[in-house]
Amino acid sequence: MIRWPAEAIWEAVAPLLPGFTVEVLPELDSTNSELMRRARSGQTEPVLLVAERQTAGRGRLGRDWHSGAGDSLTFSLALPLAPADWAGLSLAVGASIAENLHPAVRLKWPNDLWLSDRKLGGILIETAGFVDAGGARQAVIGVGLNIAPRPAAGLSTPPACVRELLPQADAASVLQRVAPALVRDVLAFQQAGFAAFRLRFEARDALRDRAVTLSDGTAGTAHGVSDSGALLVHTAAGLQAIASSEVSVRPAAP
Ligand code: BTN
Repeated sequence: MIRWPAEAIWEAVAPLLPGFTVEVLPELDSTNSELMRRARSGQTEPVLLVAERQTAGRGRLGRDWHSGAGDSLTFSLALPLAPADWAGLSLAVGASIAENLHPAVRLKWPNDLWLSDRKLGGILIETAGFVDAGGARQAVIGVGLNIAPRPAAGLSTPPACVRELLPQADAASVLQRVAPALVRDVLAFQQAGFAAFRLRFEARDALRDRAVTLSDGTAGTAHGVSDSGALLVHTAAGLQAIASSEVSVRPAAP
């Protein structure tokens, strides 16, 4: 049985976020799906929801997110948010998680966590369609991190895992490392937007000054991010700001 640090996280976060709760469930389809269902039914109190196992984990762009019990950490943070501008939230979340994991963790735009060019984790942010009386919208911030090695079934590059960096790590200790800081950073984003995170993202930008190919075939060199979190790419046609999350970016073949 996993001993989750629910109380310690609650104690660190509750003073910042009135009404905050921590919930751990043995199994769910997806922590994001569950919190989006709750948002749609009007439950918008801030919550950190951890699933020991997900049966239908979801990734960005409609992909599946596979994880096994014990070898990964899967959680979502839901809270009402009212930033002046939402642009760059997912990059800010990536920077927060990376900083609190280990100095070697890099970010692959927009928000994959990378270790030595292999995927260590991913972030899926969803927002409920409605806006409350205070102008806030429910944000569901889902994080999946590989903790222990997993078989690389079907993947061209085997995924990375946190134990490569922190041999003693388990899902519970990693949650304790990242969750309270994530709440603080999301609240900081609500106040100040992406500007406060741009340098933090760039300090860990895995693509900086590297040859990249966009999903439409355009080739170029990645050159950091803009104030709104768009990826800046030098191409034959000049500097392009890539804002759409539909664009996939990958290092060009050597
Ligand atoms: C990606 O890299 O495509 C994003 C993966 C996000 C996975 C996490 S696991 C917890 C939360 N619940 C989900 O169904 N997805 C996110």
